[in-house]
Amino acid sequence: MSERITVSLGARSYDIHVGTSVFSRAGELLSPFARGPVPVITDANVAGLHLDPFVESLKCAGIDARPIVLDAGEGTKSFRWLERLCSALLTVGVDRGGLVVALGGGVIGDLTGFAAAVLKRGIDFAQVPTTLLAQVDSSVGGKTAINTAEGKNLVGVFHQPKIVLADAGVLSTLPRRELLAGYAEVAKYGALGDAAFFEWLETNGAKALGGDEAALVRAVAHSCRMKADIVARDEHESGERALLNLGHTFGHALEAATGFSDRLLHGEGVAVGMALAFQLSVKLGLCGSQDADRFTRHLKAVGLPASIADVPGPRPSVDLLFEHMAHDKKAKDGQLTFILLRGIGQAFVTRDIPNEAVRDVLAA
Ligand code: NAD
Ligand code: GLY
Repeated sequence: MSERITVSLGARSYDIHVGTSVFSRAGELLSPFARGPVPVITDANVAGLHLDPFVESLKCAGIDARPIVLDAGEGTKSFRWLERLCSALLTVGVDRGGLVVALGGGVIGDLTGFAAAVLKRGIDFAQVPTTLLAQVDSSVGGKTAINTAEGKNLVGVFHQPKIVLADAGVLSTLPRRELLAGYAEVAKYGALGDAAFFEWLETNGAKALGGDEAALVRAVAHSCRMKADIVARDEHESGERALLNLGHTFGHALEAATGFSDRLLHGEGVAVGMALAFQLSVKLGLCGSQDADRFTRHLKAVGLPASIADVPGPRPSVDLLFEHMAHDKKAKDGQLTFILLRGIGQAFVTRDIPNEAVRDVLAA
């Protein structure tokens, strides 16, 4: 069971393969892009679970795979690890016509993509996402970045992969909490632009999360299709692509206020952020409360947090959250950018929001 989705970007177009047998076909699918030694960058957790069969598949196709195992965790998206990775890639001897493979979650994908973009002024890379979040979001669309002391994803470039291989089977080893965090991004696609998909998720989302591979593949494929279409129309986020940031302005503020710690995973922050975006939309008279309630109900039903009160630990103050929102990299000329909703499936980008309304939603 597998599906191929194309991200149409002219000469830089590429395919996303989504399914259950994608991993075993990795060698065959990557071999058209492989020349010379092929570094496979992964983290220690993924290495212990999935590296051997993956490398085996590459070797069977005659690819000279060279694993590079990095520490797991957000801290790896840093200048320190970028330097180490570039050094390891140069030691392996990858050249400008070569290929680098990112096998892991969004951390490995973002770091590897950035390293591939800057090494020797740009080499090809493949995304092999192993978290739900990476399969439906970070591996598609070419955003690469590392974090700095000043904030998340502040140093990066657009560098599209040559191919994306998303195997739903690898998600069976993902901790439940990480799976749910990724599901927030799946629900995001329904909320931002596809009411019928959201309705399908209401019936099938729990099944997909409970191990029904057919439902999971369908959810991942539909999410990738939506993202591929948006990226094809607006690769560099001059317009429509910003819709993918639904829930992120609130979510990033919550992540920052909780110290980017284990208290709140990125996807959990996005879940709460989307619920707050719905509430703000209701408050401004843009959206009916039934849609906001329905969306929040679904998040809760699958086990995701849907309000600031659901975030464990002391509640961050409105002032602190507001301050973090003001530093959001999507703020322009001091004005915050929000993705708001006229209903489920009807998101839009706006900058004209009174601060008082935002503060009221943060205080509720
Ligand atoms: P992650 O890469 O840290 O993975 C989460 C955890 O799951 C890690 O501990 C990892 O080792 C483990 N793991 C990965 N695959 C596994 C598997 N199959 N089985 C068991 N454990 C596994 O985090 P993530 O949630 O995948 O990605 C978050 C990152 O993605 C953030 O840095 C965020 O900024 C970035 N991101 C980027 C984009 C983009 O467009 N580039 C979009 C969204 C998020
Ligand atoms: N994750 C948002 C984007 O790729 O634009």
